[in-house]
Parts: sequence; structure tokens; C-alpha cells
Amino acid sequence: RAYDEPYRPQVHFSPARNWMNDPNGLLHHDGTYHLFFQYNPAGNTWGNMSWGHATSPDLVHWEERPVAIPHDEEEMVFSGSAVFDRDNTSGLGTAAAPPLVAVYTSMVKATGRQRQSLAFSTDGGETWTRYAGNPVLDIGSDNFRDPKVFWHAPTDRWVMALALSAEHRIRFYASPDLKTWTHLSDFGPAGATGGVWECPDLFELPVAGAPGRRRWVLIVNLNPGGPAGGSAGQYFTGDFDGTTFTADPQDAPRWLDHGADAYAGVTYNDAPDGRRILIAWMNNWLYGEKIPTDPWRSAMGFPRELGLRAAADDSAVLVQQPVAELATLRRRPALRIAGRRIPAGTSRLLRDAALTYEVEAELRPDGAQRCGLEVRSGGGQRTRIGYDLAGGELYVDRTASGDVGFSADFPAVHRAPLALTDGVLKLRVLVDRSSVEVFAADGAVCLTDQIFPGPDATGLATFAEEGGVRVERLTVWPLRSAW
Ligand code: FRU
Repeated sequence: RAYDEPYRPQVHFSPARNWMNDPNGLLHHDGTYHLFFQYNPAGNTWGNMSWGHATSPDLVHWEERPVAIPHDEEEMVFSGSAVFDRDNTSGLGTAAAPPLVAVYTSMVKATGRQRQSLAFSTDGGETWTRYAGNPVLDIGSDNFRDPKVFWHAPTDRWVMALALSAEHRIRFYASPDLKTWTHLSDFGPAGATGGVWECPDLFELPVAGAPGRRRWVLIVNLNPGGPAGGSAGQYFTGDFDGTTFTADPQDAPRWLDHGADAYAGVTYNDAPDGRRILIAWMNNWLYGEKIPTDPWRSAMGFPRELGLRAAADDSAVLVQQPVAELATLRRRPALRIAGRRIPAGTSRLLRDAALTYEVEAELRPDGAQRCGLEVRSGGGQRTRIGYDLAGGELYVDRTASGDVGFSADFPAVHRAPLALTDGVLKLRVLVDRSSVEVFAADGAVCLTDQIFPGPDATGLATFAEEGGVRVERLTVWPLRSAW
């Protein structure tokens, strides 16, 4: 069977072979979710950057398609976005058959110059043609990339956000036709600036719990300088008036994900029902080219539905959950627990959990100073997803998770500040053959980490140190493979 190698993700997209990084051109069109991605058609490390392509009816089952926009003699095809040009504003299609338009960074091989270019498709995204008038935006910079374009209805024009990476600035442009762009404003430096700024995104969401209130969210990816080392995404909430993004006050950087493996996260254009869906690259530039997978490298994180929740101080907090379509892969629960006290120590719940499963748990520390779940345990290996009461922190410990020796940057404990909810740690965990994604406190705190456990590390346990823990509720759903 294909897609069955030991570390091959079963519920995440990965290319059959070769290197992948950022998601690109996320567009829902005509019932299909398009996922383009940074891809090396000729090798299993970064190079020859082109746009690979996969499609899905439901964000769960993916089919890899032929390379959409290959690199050529002159340029590599760096990250960017795609739109449906419904009114054929670009003239690259016809009124009767309007085009899909990709806006990408063309990295000039000879000089390193980064310019913005277009490609278009008139067959629903299968084949793409470069626009003869490329580039459409060139300011003479070597650090000017990753355009996110969307239709801004209030001003009746296209808006682009892109990164002046080395200056920690997001620059906004507007266009009537995707071909001519006018500079609107700049945002930054702000928040975390410990690395270059890449792959921005900008969108508006309603604030749950505050009727009528809406905020704009600006996503800015950062490399290095993330909370777990290396690559990470941060976000700002604020207002966008069609010209300028004004951030709400914030004391500290706000992280999309506190783990090591959630980078270049951006969202879909034109997702149905006003849904805002994010996909991130589930890898990290610190060690990404060394992970022990072959003949492919990298998977995408599971697609997440984004929302905003009103916080006590009147701010809005981003919340994330795996898209609801994940439930279509659930088998009958392998385990259900309600109200069980577990003493200090490690208590096995399942000897042979599936290699791919979902857990929902509510754990109440009952004397324990640290407690949580151990996934993929056995043969001396385990990945701990725990809570540290003294520190007030959620953590994932992958120091003994399996193969950790391919990079000194890999084995580590990753932490995120988290307050318990009425004394309870509320977790949702998605375990695949080489990853864990943790959604805590109903998605307000997320932590994504790759792991590379051996085939015998199939156990699931709870652990508690210096006291016990009460399992208020716990359900384990084995997941069917999406392949
Ligand atoms: C982010 C990034 C982008 C760039 C692409 C090149 O991971 O560095 O800024 O467009 O990867 O592959």
C-alpha cells in the first residue's frame, strides 16, 4: 500500500516524494480545496522551488496533482497566494470563464532579487501559465516576499500583504486588476522580531462572546525567534480600514502555536460559509532538512478552523480547532473514562493504541505537581503532554520521543503559559505516525511537535508526579487513514 512508510502521516498531507515547505495559494474554488506548496520536484531537501499541488473535497482526503508552477531557468517560484478573479479584473481569462490567479514571489536565480509575479489558470487550477508582463511588483529588494492577496469588498479592490522580511515590516498594496499595485502603508516592527518576517496573512473575524464585534487578524511568520526555537507564527489583532492596519495593544508576542513545528501558517481564500481555515507547514527550518523520512520530507499540519474569542480584558484571542471534517475519520472509541482517580506514577491506559488517533481529555490535578498524557510510549520511548502547576505551563516533552538524534535542536521540552479552566486541564490531541498536535483550553493554546517513535511505541498512558490526578473525562478515537 502507498503512503504506509513507518513515519508516513495518515491524516496529514505529505507529498509522495521529495521536499515540501510552505503552503501556498490556499483557495477554495468550485467545491475543491486547493493546496499548493513550496516543492522541490528533484530532491528531498530545499531547492528548485516550485509550486506543488494537491486537491481535496473535504480538507481530509488529498490527491497530489502534477507540479503547478515549476521553477525555470530564470526564477524560483517562492511562496504566495491564489485568488478567483470572478470579474476577470486581470483580463487573464474571459468574462464567461474567469481565471484563477496565483501571485507568487519570483526569486531571480542570478541575482537573488525578489519580485512579485502572476500565473493564471483557466482550467480550474490544473495548469498554469506565467503572465507575460511579469514581474508586477519590483522594488529592487532581496527580502520582499510571500504576497497574500484577497478581495477587499468595502474598497472594491484587491489588497496584498507582503513581508519586507529583514526590516520586520508588512507592506500593504492595493490593485484594481492584480497587475498594477499601489503602496498603501507599512506595519512593524512590532511583536517578535528575533528573525526575518515571512508569509503574512490578513483577514477579519467575528468575536465570539461579543455580539456585533469584529477584529482583523494579521499573521506574521517569524524565522528564527519562535518560542520553541527556530520557526513560528505570531498574530496581531486590530483594525484594517482598507489602507492601514492598526494593532490592538499587546504586552507580549502572541503565538499561533507554541510548538516547534507549525510554520508559514496562512489561510484559505473563499472558504465556504465564512469559515477561516489555516494550514501550516509542520516542520522547522532549524532541522527540517534532516528529519528521518524518505522519500519525502515534511507534512502539513492538520487544517484548523480559526475563531476569535472575547477575553476578560476586552481583547480578542485567536482560537483554533482541527476542522470538523476530522470526525469523518473517527472509528468507534477505543477507550472512555469518566471520573477516575489515578495515583502518582505512570498508568497505562492502552497497550496498543492505533498509531493515529485523537484524544479528548479533562484532567484535574489532585495533588500532582505535573501530570498529563504519555503518547506513543513503549520500549523506553514516550512523548509527554503535560501540565506543570508551579510554572502554570502546558508542555510537550519530546526528549525521549524516539529518533531524536538527527539534530541537536530536536530533542527538547516546549512550553506554553496556560491557566487551568476551573482547575481542569482541557486537552484535545491529534496523534499521527510522526506528530502530535495539542489544542488546550478549547483551542486558545496550541502546541505542534513532530516525533519519530519506533513501531513498538504504541502505548497510551497517564502520568502524575508528586501526587495524583483525576481523569474527569477521557475518550480515545482511533482514526482511519485518509489515504
Ligand atoms: C518560508 C520561506 C518563504 C519563502 C519560501 C521559499 O519558509 O522562506 O519566505 O517564500 O520559504 O521556499
